[in-house]
Amino acid sequence: MSSKILFRIQKKGEEALKEVVVTDEEISSNESILSIAAKHDIAISNFCNGRGKCGRCKIIVNLDEQEKLNINKDVLLKALKQELISRGYLLSCLVSVKNNVSVEVIVPSESIESKYEVLSGKAVKIVDKQISGDAGVAIDIGTTTIASYLVDLSDNSVVDSEGSYNGQVKFGADVMTRMNYVLENKDGAEALQNAVVSTINSHLKNFSERKKFKKISKIVVSGNTVMTYLFLKKDPKEIRDGRYDNPNFKKPYIVKGRDVHLSYGAEDADVYCVPGLGSYVGGDITSDIIISEIFKEEKICLVIDVGTNGEIVLGNKEWLATCATSAGPAFEGGEVKCGMRAMKGAIDRLRINNYGNEVIYRVIGNEPPKGICGSGLIILIAELMKNKIIDSYGKFNRKLMEKTKRLRKSKFYEEQGQDVYEYVVVWGDETETKEDITISEKDLQNLKYTKAAIFAGVRTLLRNTGVKIDEIDKIFIAGGFGNFLDLESAILVGLFPDVEREKYKFIGNGSLDGAYKQLIDENARKKAEEIALNVTYIDLATDGNFVDEYNAALAFPHARTELFPTWLKFEKGEIEKEKEKEEKKEKEEAVEKKETPKTAILKKETQLSKEVQKQKEILEKSKMYKIEGFKLEGDELEIEI
Ligand code: FES
Repeated sequence: MSSKILFRIQKKGEEALKEVVVTDEEISSNESILSIAAKHDIAISNFCNGRGKCGRCKIIVNLDEQEKLNINKDVLLKALKQELISRGYLLSCLVSVKNNVSVEVIVPSESIESKYEVLSGKAVKIVDKQISGDAGVAIDIGTTTIASYLVDLSDNSVVDSEGSYNGQVKFGADVMTRMNYVLENKDGAEALQNAVVSTINSHLKNFSERKKFKKISKIVVSGNTVMTYLFLKKDPKEIRDGRYDNPNFKKPYIVKGRDVHLSYGAEDADVYCVPGLGSYVGGDITSDIIISEIFKEEKICLVIDVGTNGEIVLGNKEWLATCATSAGPAFEGGEVKCGMRAMKGAIDRLRINNYGNEVIYRVIGNEPPKGICGSGLIILIAELMKNKIIDSYGKFNRKLMEKTKRLRKSKFYEEQGQDVYEYVVVWGDETETKEDITISEKDLQNLKYTKAAIFAGVRTLLRNTGVKIDEIDKIFIAGGFGNFLDLESAILVGLFPDVEREKYKFIGNGSLDGAYKQLIDENARKKAEEIALNVTYIDLATDGNFVDEYNAALAFPHARTELFPTWLKFEKGEIEKEKEKEEKKEKEEAVEKKETPKTAILKKETQLSKEVQKQKEILEKSKMYKIEGFKLEGDELEIEI
């Protein structure tokens, strides 16, 4: 006998009901409620792939009804506070339904994936106009998000854009879990293809409603190898189990829109999938190469695409080498208790003062904060380092507990018998949930793993190619995350090399812009195919140097501090002295200009408030909230607080 679940899905004060039948097969295999929900298009948050670690997949089941469920209590007690458990909260990944029962499950709004705002690249400007003839579409299929441009093929202008979560998110946060889902479930390939195609079709539908066009005749899709395979419903076994340099990864697949179930005028479109470079370096990085044009450069350049998978390319017009490193989702809000994606309610800038007692922060959308996004987390670590609140291992300086109440022992970990400390970034009376936003030593550890994987990937690539860091002429930072990055903090924590800042260029979503370039330019497509065949792939899984580099990078900023001269200057207090000198100079200049100190301060304050006002306006008006390095795109203002 099968069972039934009535999902009560809560969102912004509304409630949607969905009744789902749980099959005998699902019951006998103890399939989790998280997985059953995913199959029925209920996107419950899931950052740890159902391992009971992230605490994001919360559901509520009346305590009297919980006997109808199988609950993995051991793991649950480690992941959820006792107080929540006693109110009926459970983690949907740790719960399955028993046979022949009918149960009501509340999915609270905090567990539902929210809408994502498109992060576009930086090379493209959007012109708001109608299309007279055929349209083209450039698509970036990211593991987490999908972004698209609608293009007028008569003059190649981009006329619209769309962005949303990849519908596959509900099947797991990373590519491994999704591949395993396909390989372990009879209808897995179809489910995963349907999920990604329905997201793309929703973009096409919105385009067709907003803009008039005859048909979509060309589409270019750029994504990592796994995303491309799942979009094409190709068996991903050869990615997981095969050779990293299988020539199939380097092929440009071309299909018709209808073959992959695209609709809204795209049925007859030629769909071109950008060729990848190896098993875990896909068409997205080929597109980064196309848009950064490092293949034209005399001098050596580096491209770092920061995402769940960190992908790195080094080279110039004569040679290119690449590698991929599994960075994890910590910078995208996963595996960090207070982490969230860069959307409304996320703290993206902050500063710590006065021995850790005072935290000034900025929230996207000017709302009460819900958590901290990747760029905010990087700044937070840098601030904790600068204020000597953490040491190089990411452990809190216990002595500071005398000076600030923000540093304390974590009650949550104490309940589990663990001695873990945490720092309160925002007190509960200011937050949306009314709970303190904290960062613990466990969170810092996960962030350290992520930054170490990326930096170690860069160093291993340099070692394998014999290139010295100062021989690199330009460093391109790509990936959705790259749009929101605070470079100075990213260098200080040891994520990126400490070299001249002018060498850094932010290309934002290079995968999307590269797809656009290949949509409008036949030569760019040919170039991509040529690059795919000629890049040297370095497999980090079998590279002994990588382990050494990774271990050395597991410190803030690094075990070899000489690689981070800026940090050494901080430690010696030289940067503080430089700042003081600058302030003194400013005061002297003010006196020379006969400004009283009060007028000078007033002037500065007026400038600042004008800047803040301007920032707010840009944030409020712009759907595409985007920062290029330290600046909001399209404007000259500095957004440092
Ligand atoms: S998905 Fe359930 S705890 Fe992470």
